[in-house]
Amino acid sequence: MSDIIVGIESSCDDTSVAVLKDEYLISNVIASQEVHRQYGGVVPELASRAHLLNIVPVVDKAIKSAGIQMKDIDAIAFTRGPGLLGSLLVGTSFAKGMAISLGCKLVEVNHLQGHILSCLIKEKGIEKPIPAFPFLTLLVSGGHTQIVQVDSEYSFRILGQTIDDAVGEAFDKCSKMMGLGYPGGPIIDKLAKEGDAERFKFNLPNIQGLDYSFSGIKTSLLYFLRDRIAEQPDFIEQNRADICAGFQKALIDILMKKLILAVKQTGITRVAIGGGVSANSALRQRVYDEGVKRGWQTFIPEFRFTTDNAAMIAICGLYKYRAGEFCPLDAPAVPRAGSMAI
Ligand code: KG4
Ligand code: ZN
Repeated sequence: MSDIIVGIESSCDDTSVAVLKDEYLISNVIASQEVHRQYGGVVPELASRAHLLNIVPVVDKAIKSAGIQMKDIDAIAFTRGPGLLGSLLVGTSFAKGMAISLGCKLVEVNHLQGHILSCLIKEKGIEKPIPAFPFLTLLVSGGHTQIVQVDSEYSFRILGQTIDDAVGEAFDKCSKMMGLGYPGGPIIDKLAKEGDAERFKFNLPNIQGLDYSFSGIKTSLLYFLRDRIAEQPDFIEQNRADICAGFQKALIDILMKKLILAVKQTGITRVAIGGGVSANSALRQRVYDEGVKRGWQTFIPEFRFTTDNAAMIAICGLYKYRAGEFCPLDAPAVPRAGSMAI
């Protein structure tokens, strides 16, 4: 008998529902919220209202496109945290209601674990390598930047993490400073392709061990732009692509330096990336190139599994379901990262 798991993700501004039959994804529906663009960032109150509007049609579509019956579902897995409280409450409450009404199991998932295990999702007809344990994951998103050692589906060790901003925040803030829009990552990625990454250089932070810091480089971009604009008011307009290319290269250099160190320290040469920033074309290329150069086996996710999605929640849910790790109905949403073990 197959295990059929429904995943529900609502931690930020994407309402997503996925259905998994054992490790195989049979549907993954994502409703992204466009309403935030005009505000230059996610507005929590608007996000939770949009989740409320989206959740029923998204669940319905995911179940229909999976071709399953409600009675076939073995467990509902949901993102318990970290994320925006109002957004999490919608998914948490819906998942509980669904589990009660279907009489099936309820499984809580840490959003970060979802990003980390997204490389284990399989799809019928798509051949792709799945990492054996242990492997390292560079988890890079709007809220987190971590190097995690994954010893099994249930065992994670954070080897290093940012001591201030996440790398996604650095992309988003750079875009905001340059008046380019939100979210910044995809915009900078696109512009950087046409730019010269060697023209403008930024100083890299000097942080001990495997930890990261991105607040200094963000400030150095701010001062760089301020000083150049004082000399030439249309400096940004005239040099947009080169600034993006230089800044993006600096962020990737920072990420790669510690990732290379983590491989050296652990001796683990299976390297995956995950999280929204792992959609970045230059980062994907760098990880691939370093892998070829250094003899690593690299696991670069498909684009649809990089940003927030419920398929990654369902795969974590599957393993927890199999381990008999169920969630009580009174478990509250957990917005803060530190309050939930990965
Ligand atoms: O994982 P995610 O969807 O949400 C969080 O859990 O935070 O990540 C969102 C982040 C945003 O900061 C966004 O700018 C960034 O991922 N991002 C990118 C790209 N696509 C999304 N950053 C760089 N290049 C991209 N192509
Ligand atoms: Zn995420």
